[in-house]
Amino acid sequence: SATSISHVDPYAVVQPEVKAISERLRHSVSSTVPVLKQAAEYFFRKGVEGKRLRPTLVMLMASALAHTPPASEYHGVDLRPAAEPTHELRRRQQRIAEIAELIHVASLLHDDVIDEASTRRGILSLNATVGNKVSILSGDFLLARASVTLGALRNTEIVELMSQILEYLVSGEIMQMTATQEQTLDMDHYLQKTYCKTASLMANCMRAVAVLEGLSPEVCNTAWSYGRHLGLAFQIVDDVLDLTGSASILGKPALNDLKSGVATAPVLFAAEQQPELCTLIRRKFKSAGDLDRAVQLINQSDGIQRARDLAKHHCLMAAEMVHGLPKPASDHAVLARQALIVMTHKLLDRKK
Ligand code: FPP
Ligand code: MG
Ligand code: MG
Repeated sequence: SATSISHVDPYAVVQPEVKAISERLRHSVSSTVPVLKQAAEYFFRKGVEGKRLRPTLVMLMASALAHTPPASEYHGVDLRPAAEPTHELRRRQQRIAEIAELIHVASLLHDDVIDEASTRRGILSLNATVGNKVSILSGDFLLARASVTLGALRNTEIVELMSQILEYLVSGEIMQMTATQEQTLDMDHYLQKTYCKTASLMANCMRAVAVLEGLSPEVCNTAWSYGRHLGLAFQIVDDVLDLTGSASILGKPALNDLKSGVATAPVLFAAEQQPELCTLIRRKFKSAGDLDRAVQLINQSDGIQRARDLAKHHCLMAAEMVHGLPKPASDHAVLARQALIVMTHKLLDRKK
């Protein structure tokens, strides 16, 4: 029925697999070079693994699209896919989840160097611990591990899709870094940059899972589009939290974007009502008192609400994509689809 699905815990639906993926990741990033070992393992240790959103989304989409129900090693009503799949296809989809997390953490290591961030996930950032040079090389090491895992899939279409993510991430970061004054005020530029730096990872992973499943181009596009809308919503919420959250809850610095001179969706919406903000955006909030004044002007507008509404729009679009998938092949696929939709709700409500 169309009654509430809010009782579904999306993380629980594929929890045994995501746990196994985390363990594989810990194993895969260990190195015989001591400094590299310590650094590469830094954000894969228990307790600082983050939400593991990307591996969870990848496995949920794999379940949502599966032609046959994945094998379960559990009994009775517990139909969760087995941590160690017997199907080669499911195993390969798990590799996509691993690669996604490796790329994600690598990008965070580089990002924290670029942003000169001192905290991440509630602990010291890696750059604050081992310095920029080792931090950058550790990110490179994770990308190397991702490449090896990717190559081992022996599927050039998947290699192309997953490698494209790296191109997009770097492009998004450079777009943000080198934006002209006009571009920093332009919502289309912001959205394009946001697709590149955040949504492309989720979108291409969703497509990769569908391609591995052997689905039609239309279905692959629908899966990609779910990831794109969810990714855009995720980053817009992130940009709102940068303004409304506190460093202690976020586990990373707050007001980071303004301090870096970056105007995000809530700021751009606010600037439409508070033209004085445009001046501050153009000079990247660099003059004395700019930060406080910007926060004040944003709070005197409905920029934050409009950004939340935009995130909500993308969440609704993401849910639409799930409804547009072909008929589910099993009860587990139905549950996974509910989980993908609940994920869109959770994302809007998140506080960190
Ligand atoms: C976090 O954004 C950063 C990203 C989503 C992408 C960063 C990409 C690069 C540094 C390019 C290099 C890519 C690779 C694969 C090595 P943020 O700074 O707005 O968010 P934060 O508040 O979490 O730091
Ligand atoms: Mg950052
Ligand atoms: Mg950044």
